Amino acid sequence: MKKPTDATPPERKLPEDMTLGELVTLLEKEHANVIVPSILRLRELADRILKEHGCRYEGVLSALANELKSLERELHEHICKEEHELFPAALGLRETEEKGSRKSPVQFSVIPELQHEHENATDVFVRIRHLTGNYRLPEGGECLSGLYDGLRSLETTLLYHIGVEEKVLLPRAMKVAVGKGKL
Ligand SMILES: [Fe+2]
Ligand SMILES: [Fe+2]
Repeated sequence: MKKPTDATPPERKLPEDMTLGELVTLLEKEHANVIVPSILRLRELADRILKEHGCRYEGVLSALANELKSLERELHEHICKEEHELFPAALGLRETEEKGSRKSPVQFSVIPELQHEHENATDVFVRIRHLTGNYRLPEGGECLSGLYDGLRSLETTLLYHIGVEEKVLLPRAMKVAVGKGKL
């Protein structure tokens, strides 16, 4: 595989070639610009289709809307832990601002929780694939195509993001933690 050169912008580098700072910046951008807005958009889309075509696809749309609502709630807490605990800890910062004023120590103890939550998020897409028949539109179900395409794309993005955190970020964070006698 071609290696990025020094002239390659940080966002074009492979995650494994990034510094911890670049990696954290990439992951935070994905949270804010892709993952959170996509879930919100798809949840609203599922609700809208449910209103307009509810009688035909009520079962699958209600189940998908519920999966998206719980994913949104769980990822909100998950992302807060990453951005306020794990990322500052991995970057070697000693404390983090909470709501602009109070400072609390950053810690690595959230790692097992984060790993468990990654498994939960992965399971959500196993259930979504089951509900949608692997994103296959039912006969005459064109009104679902935007939602199914969006779900497939969110699955790809989110599972890649989780893979980068699991395979690149967490092992490096754990090295930092071990070096500081915290794990
Ligand atoms: Fe993340
Ligand atoms: Fe994560």
